[in-house]
Amino acid sequence: MGDSVDVLVTGGCGFIGSNYIRYVLEKYPEYHVVNLDKLTYAGNLDNLRDIENNPRYTFVKGDICDKERVKEIIPSCDVIINFAAESHVDRSITGPEPFIRTDVVGTFTLLEAARQHDVTFVQISTDEVYGSLQEGEFREDDPLKPNSPYSASKASAELLVRSYHVTYGLPVLITRSSNNLGPYQHPEKLIPKFTLNALQGKTLTIYGTGENVRDWIYVLDNCTGIDTVVHRGSSGEVYNVGGENERTNLEITHKILEILDRPLSLMEFVEDRKGHDFRYALNVEKMRELGWNPQHSFEEALERTVLWYRDNEWWWRPIFGRG
Ligand SMILES: NC(=O)c1ccc[n+]([C@@H]2O[C@H](COP(=O)([O-])OP(=O)(O)OC[C@H]3O[C@@H](n4cnc5c(N)ncnc54)[C@H](O)[C@@H]3O)[C@@H](O)[C@H]2O)c1
Repeated sequence: MGDSVDVLVTGGCGFIGSNYIRYVLEKYPEYHVVNLDKLTYAGNLDNLRDIENNPRYTFVKGDICDKERVKEIIPSCDVIINFAAESHVDRSITGPEPFIRTDVVGTFTLLEAARQHDVTFVQISTDEVYGSLQEGEFREDDPLKPNSPYSASKASAELLVRSYHVTYGLPVLITRSSNNLGPYQHPEKLIPKFTLNALQGKTLTIYGTGENVRDWIYVLDNCTGIDTVVHRGSSGEVYNVGGENERTNLEITHKILEILDRPLSLMEFVEDRKGHDFRYALNVEKMRELGWNPQHSFEEALERTVLWYRDNEWWWRPIFGRG
C-alpha cells in the first residue's frame, strides 16, 4: 500500500470495529479511516467518542445494503474491512431476517462495488461458520457447517467473498475469529451482561448446564490479527484468529463473580438455547506463520474487561437493558 491509505471500515461503531479503528489510527499516522455504520441498536457513537474529532477519521451514517451510498464511498478507498453485521445468535433465532439482509445482501452490495474498483476486500467472519466440535480444532479448510441463522448468514457471506475472488479476481481476505472480549461490547453479550448484572446484584442466567465451550480472544489481539492479515495475508486465503483460550461458560461466570466479589448464588440455570453449539476451537498455525501471536493472557484480559465495565458506567448506563 502507498503513502496515504484510505481504509473503509463498515460497522465501526460496534464492538470490534471501534476497537480496530482506534488501533489503526494510533498505529498508522498515514491512515485515514472512513467508518460506514447504520447505527443499529448495536452501533454506538460513544464507542469512538475519544477520536470523533480526529482529522484522519470520518463517520458516515449509512447502510451497507444501500447501493448508491456504497458506490459513492468505495472509489476513494484502498481497502474495505467489513465488520458490519447483525451479530447476536439469540436475535437470529427469534428474527433471522435482518441477518440475511445485512450479513448476506450487505456483503454482496459491498462486493459488487469493490469489484468495479478492484478494492481489496477483507471479510470479518467467525469460528461459528464451522459448526460445533466435540474434540480437536478447526482448520481453515474444514467444511462449513453453520447451525444458527447467524452463523449461516456469515458462512453465506464468506462464500460470496470467495466467489468474487475466483470469478472476478477481486483481492480478498477472510478472518475467522473466536469469541472476543474487551471494552465497548454491547451489554447483550455474555461477558458485559454478566458483569453488569453481577454489579447490580441481578441474576446471571446460564443456558443448559453451562458446559458449552468457547475459545476467547482479547479484542486487541483480534485487531492485531486482522492487521497482520491485511498486510501479510495472501489474497483468497482464510485465516483463523483464535486465542487458544477454551473456557466453559460456567468457568467464565465463576471468574466474573470472583473478580467482582459477588456470590455464586446469583447464577440461575435455564433451558438450553436452540441448536446450541457445544464447542468451538481454532487451529491458529496459519496465523503464526504470518508472525502473529496474541499478547494477552485470558485471565488478564478478563479481569481488565470486567473492571473496564465496572469503571465506565457513563458508557453502559444509556444502553444497558435497551434494544
Ligand atoms: N463479537 C465477537 O465475539 C465476534 C467473533 C467473531 C466474529 N465476529 C464478527 O465481527 C464483526 C463485528 O462484530 P461485533 O461484535 O463488533 O458486532 P456488533 O454487533 O457490536 O457491531 C455491528 C456493527 O455493525 C453495524 N451495522 C449493522 N448492520 C449494518 C448495516 N446494514 N449497515 C451498516 N452498518 C451496520 C451496527 O450498527 C454496529 O455498529 C461481525 O461481522 C461479527 O460477525 C464477532
